[in-house]
Amino acid sequence: MLTVQEAIKQRRSIRGFSSKEVPDEFVAQMLEAARLAPSGSNRQPWNFIVVRDPSTKKELRRICLGQHFIEQAPVLIVCFANLERYSLEEKRKRRVEFQEAGVNETLSGRFADPAYREQLDTMPVPAETARVGAIANTYIAIEHMVLTATALGLGTCWVGGFDDASEINRLFGLKPSLLPIIVLPVGYPEAKTPAPRPRLKKEEIVIQPERK
Ligand SMILES: Cc1cc2nc3c(=O)[nH]c(=O)nc-3n(C[C@H](O)[C@H](O)[C@H](O)COP(=O)(O)O)c2cc1C
Repeated sequence: MLTVQEAIKQRRSIRGFSSKEVPDEFVAQMLEAARLAPSGSNRQPWNFIVVRDPSTKKELRRICLGQHFIEQAPVLIVCFANLERYSLEEKRKRRVEFQEAGVNETLSGRFADPAYREQLDTMPVPAETARVGAIANTYIAIEHMVLTATALGLGTCWVGGFDDASEINRLFGLKPSLLPIIVLPVGYPEAKTPAPRPRLKKEEIVIQPERK
């Protein structure tokens, strides 16, 4: 098993898979890594569907702009952001869990003020805030899965290339509150690890303002 640093360095988008099967146990480890991901207010706004069925993979390939490796990968993990995790009912559940787990005592600043927390938890989340939060937090869980797969010797490729996400909802008979955001093919790479892809330089991403 690789260290986190090694997995971060070795991960590549893999766009060609061998037919070697991926053990269920490895998929289970990836899903467990997703389950443990952090999320704002612990909303955990994610859901996953594991696909091994060839005809479903074929349909997902079509929806994902025909990208061939989607059908080739032994496993697809279809990743959804779940807007319902931002409902008042779910917020209440998370609040009770935080209380029972003693998390509230570790919070500080305004979050340490029970009245402020109460106010936050009883106010409906604006739709756009929920949408952005659900997607952003689900991305964290996906990267946990991706790095776990790398550490297990598997390849993955984030696939967000689809025109009409609602086709994925129709395919699985899911309600619109589940936003399909990424299809993640998982399998053993068919070729050796590609060279690292280009990246911006450190100076291009670190801002040096006059005031620090
Ligand atoms: C949100 C997201 C969506 C992506 N969608 C696709 C896609 O539809 N097809 C594809 O071939 N690669 C896709 N990629 C992979 C990127 O092209 C890739 O991460 C980037 O070029 C850097 O290469 P690397 O992952 O090998 O480091 C996606 C990556 C992310 C994070």
